[in-house]
Amino acid sequence: MPFNTEFKPVSLKHTTLFKPMKVGKTMVLHRAIIPPLNKMRADPETHILNEELSIEYHGQRSQSPGTMIITEPGNISPEAGGYAGSPVIYSKVQMEVWQKFFSKIHENKSFAWVQLYALGSQASPKFLKANGYKYVSASAGAYIDEIFEKKLRKQIIPKLV
Ligand SMILES: Cc1cc2nc3c(=O)[nH]c(=O)nc-3n(C[C@H](O)[C@H](O)[C@H](O)COP(=O)(O)O)c2cc1C
Repeated sequence: MPFNTEFKPVSLKHTTLFKPMKVGKTMVLHRAIIPPLNKMRADPETHILNEELSIEYHGQRSQSPGTMIITEPGNISPEAGGYAGSPVIYSKVQMEVWQKFFSKIHENKSFAWVQLYALGSQASPKFLKANGYKYVSASAGAYIDEIFEKKLRKQIIPKLV
């Protein structure tokens, strides 16, 4: 896509972007919200979150007090992640690591919501096969594209109708 040289920046001063907003019981101080962005940096064996990177990353992004951060997904079981490197969140040991970067966010007076994840139909066929996980999905037939569907049928569910 070519760079748009005609682009004229528009002032957001009179919009609600920098106005507080109540989310549940929490008052966030502006609406530039960080969406869930999986970093794929969890330990490939244990699926435990990368502590050092998480603290650094979230420390940087929570610097403006009152920021709302929806964290990268916490997989509700190893097979729910669907990809190697996607972090898990279902035991006390794993929670302790997540807690460390929540503390960093809270230190900056910002807020964290955790995205809970079960990748279902979007899981990587290669990952499922390598780990002997089942292909479990609430939305059967919802494949990303034909290539993905072919891989899935070949590797995981050859008899699927
Ligand atoms: C590197 C990357 C990782 C992402 N990870 C997640 C994720 O873990 N969960 C999710 O719901 N969306 C994920 N997304 C989608 C983003 O949340 C989405 O791009 C964001 O809300 C911005 O929306 P837009 O792309 O429609 O502008 C990811 C996107 C990128 C680029």
